[in-house]
Amino acid sequence: MPTNPDDLSDLVNLFDFEKKAEANMTRLAYEYVASGAADEVTLRWNRQAFDAIKLNPTVLADMEKPDTRLSLFGYELPYPILIAPTAYHRLMHPEGELATARGASAARATYVVSSFTTTPLEEIANVASQPLWFQLYVRDDREFTKELIQKAESLGFKAICITVDTPVGGVRNREQRVDFGLPDTLNAPYMIAPGPQKKPVTWKDIEWLKSAVNIPVLVKGILNPNDAVRAIQTGVSGIIVSNHGGRNLDTVPATIDVLPYIVERVANRVPILMDGGIRRGTDVLKAIALGAKAVLVGKPICYGVACGGAAGVAKVMTILKEELELAMILTGRPTLADIEKSVLWNPL
Ligand code: LAC
Repeated sequence: MPTNPDDLSDLVNLFDFEKKAEANMTRLAYEYVASGAADEVTLRWNRQAFDAIKLNPTVLADMEKPDTRLSLFGYELPYPILIAPTAYHRLMHPEGELATARGASAARATYVVSSFTTTPLEEIANVASQPLWFQLYVRDDREFTKELIQKAESLGFKAICITVDTPVGGVRNREQRVDFGLPDTLNAPYMIAPGPQKKPVTWKDIEWLKSAVNIPVLVKGILNPNDAVRAIQTGVSGIIVSNHGGRNLDTVPATIDVLPYIVERVANRVPILMDGGIRRGTDVLKAIALGAKAVLVGKPICYGVACGGAAGVAKVMTILKEELELAMILTGRPTLADIEKSVLWNPL
């Protein structure tokens, strides 16, 4: 009997989702999502660095159910995992970003919608019952860019993440091999003719865009601690430590290796989020122990959409949240505030 592509019952972890997604997706879509830049060294490091961190559990802690709640930019999230912005969800499922928004809502997760969405923001806002953020690519047309974030704000989006690590795309050999391009049947309404930027994006643009909206503005794609300090001087509300899922500059370090350096320099002035390689609840715990307020997941969400639309997204988020709860119980950490460095194994 052929297996039903939407049957999720045999998928017990995020790696299972990737395997099933590879079978479900077109080769074009899978290569686009799964690939990293150049030799994919950073892509591998993002995972290996998490695996290399050992845990140091505390037993017989007096706790009942772990409390995964946190507050961020004035509202409460039930758990510290957000949906990272990723492009072109209609490549993965006919309902595209609407499926992602519905899945996010079912799992009570905040969804960061990509500038490369294949669905208009109005339609996404219509179906979402949980908070949305918007990820911005600053375009050469600055007026268009400003109007776009103002549109997001007026639709109720709760924050803007400006991607700052992509003046050009990386060396994407796997995309080249499948001759990646969006099929004619789909379009990304906010990234028409994306091409290379002619007008460089600088810190001045961040200041200006910040003044154009009243919602928090974060910068996404910070790896250098000096840039983190510069971002704070510019007045951003938060920083996302990211190497763009290993897709841009190959051989930059894993984000979990960079995180402590940024945390040290930022010294609690703004919340720090991170993405890159999160596949297990223990990864989330490790990121929080090293100072992240919350994490984002990108590729697994694409696989979730590809495997089962909204239900797939919801299941990916639920698995990760439940794994985080188990990790908290098994390490004896009742709340997120209890997850600090002592939960990491420290060799003598
Ligand atoms: C990418 C762009 C769209 O990583 O952010 O493919």
